[in-house]
Amino acid sequence: MNLSPEAEAVFRYHERSKHRLDRYAPGPGHLDWANQPDPFRGFEGSARIALPLLADGLATRFAEVREGALPKASSLDRDSVATLLELSLGLSAWKSFRGSTWALRCNPSSGNLHPTEGYVVCPELPGLPAGVWHYVSRDHALERRCEPDAEAWEGAFPGGGIIVGFSSIHWREAWKYGMRAFRYCQHDVGHATAAVAYAAAALGWHARGLQGWGDADIARLLGLDRSGDFSGAEEEAPDLLMWVGRKPAEVTPAGLAQGLEHADWRGRANRLSQVHREWSDIDRVHAATKKPSMPPRDTPDPPQRPAPKAIPADVSAASLIRRRRSAVDFDGVTRIGSGAFFAMLSALLPRADAPPWAALPGTPRVHCALFVHRVDDLAPGLYLLVRQDPALPRLKQALGPGWPWSKAGPDGLPLYLLLEQDLRDHARLVSCHQDIAADSCFSLGFIAEFEDIVAGEPWRYRELFWETGLLGQVLYLEAEAAGVRGTGIGCFFDDEVHALLGLRDRRFQSLYHFTVGGPVDDPRLSTLPPYGDREPVPSLRKNPAR
Ligand SMILES: Cc1cc2nc3c(=O)[nH]c(=O)nc-3n(C[C@H](O)[C@H](O)[C@H](O)COP(=O)(O)O)c2cc1C
Repeated sequence: MNLSPEAEAVFRYHERSKHRLDRYAPGPGHLDWANQPDPFRGFEGSARIALPLLADGLATRFAEVREGALPKASSLDRDSVATLLELSLGLSAWKSFRGSTWALRCNPSSGNLHPTEGYVVCPELPGLPAGVWHYVSRDHALERRCEPDAEAWEGAFPGGGIIVGFSSIHWREAWKYGMRAFRYCQHDVGHATAAVAYAAAALGWHARGLQGWGDADIARLLGLDRSGDFSGAEEEAPDLLMWVGRKPAEVTPAGLAQGLEHADWRGRANRLSQVHREWSDIDRVHAATKKPSMPPRDTPDPPQRPAPKAIPADVSAASLIRRRRSAVDFDGVTRIGSGAFFAMLSALLPRADAPPWAALPGTPRVHCALFVHRVDDLAPGLYLLVRQDPALPRLKQALGPGWPWSKAGPDGLPLYLLLEQDLRDHARLVSCHQDIAADSCFSLGFIAEFEDIVAGEPWRYRELFWETGLLGQVLYLEAEAAGVRGTGIGCFFDDEVHALLGLRDRRFQSLYHFTVGGPVDDPRLSTLPPYGDREPVPSLRKNPAR
């Protein structure tokens, strides 16, 4: 295979960032607590708007969101944008233990380090002037980075909508995880993308990834290329943009360019750590995976499928989203019914109109290798969920002969039994010896079609990780709705997983793991409300439903 230098760089990074049984990927060695990065970015000198906390008043049920039965679209103004952010990137609690306190957010993050920064780009809205705004989750506030030519922007947001953008501060993850951190940053973008898509659906809005934008276009729009504003501070790498609005729409860089021509930018990024260590592997893979500008891809909409089996819990979308947590331990006894298990798996299949699929449009490239431990009426063992039918022959070929591929589960669910066996020890081993992979009801590896995609378009290395993060977020919420709990697993021995599956080359690679089971909480931790001591911000609505 003739590879571009970029593709070679990506394959090299991928190999070097693998954890192996006899050697973890290069990391910092010890944690330099004095230089722990500040989890909150701020832009000093920018104007701020405090956002009201209104999510409690949102009546939408989680079951409706999950089925794609969206409520009437909320009007677009400061209050609804505030609810969108509160339920996606906002804080969900503070935790405290022996004098240390840390925040949790609606979106999870590897090591709770939160490398993902969120932006809102909007035209003039009631209560929210036109601009490029940076979201500060700690304060539930927006910082106005850019005041554009509002008139020039009027027609650029067709049909009522805004843009939500993401960037990553790689250093936040590299501080703890070293070279492998680039992967974790991409997972987190996928989780955040899905978090926004679910929150948008709860408001009756569509969320669609904007495809034509290259990294340079995104950096220009969000002001990430304004090096003076980041001097002395950690830079932000552009990731992706989503259209969020009452109707699906495309927005192009050209459509917003005029408004940016005479824009007024304000604010200087805060420095997150005093001392940094360079990770040249991350710089190289970042350079090799820069996304070019491109015409929007002609991606078919996800298929029409029946909604996954209804969940028994009648819970509001807002409370389910905010009570999502990672289990730190599982009890090793909880079982789930096969009906609940199959419902969770069918929720991983893309469906038209249901979140979060349009947020990352395109053919599904990620499948699930499941280690089933404790599911009623289902033999423990290794199962494959094939998320896109045409991938089945490719998977069969790559996994080699010897697997029976017996169809399992209900009709219409592309689930196959490969091996009937107690795999708890194997699951623990391949997930860096973590008990959470064995003491759960099931754990899994997200297996991505890899070599051809990365060789053809190296930037899509990042997109594959985003897809795994998106799936992880679906599972987090599905697990909560089913009365159990999930945890993302970024630490796994890549090639041990491949050996177990019979994968001998890089046509497919495992990019992320996940586990779902009966959680055991740590009673030593106390929990505080996310915005407990905040002054209330009045709502624009006369009779806020609170
Ligand atoms: C990409 C990713 C990788 C993770 N990897 C692990 C892991 O290997 N082991 C683990 O115990 N938790 C893991 N977690 C869970 C995080 O530690 C957790 O999300 C974070 O502490 C925030 O807590 P919360 O999810 O309850 O908000 C991972 C989470 C994400 C999003």
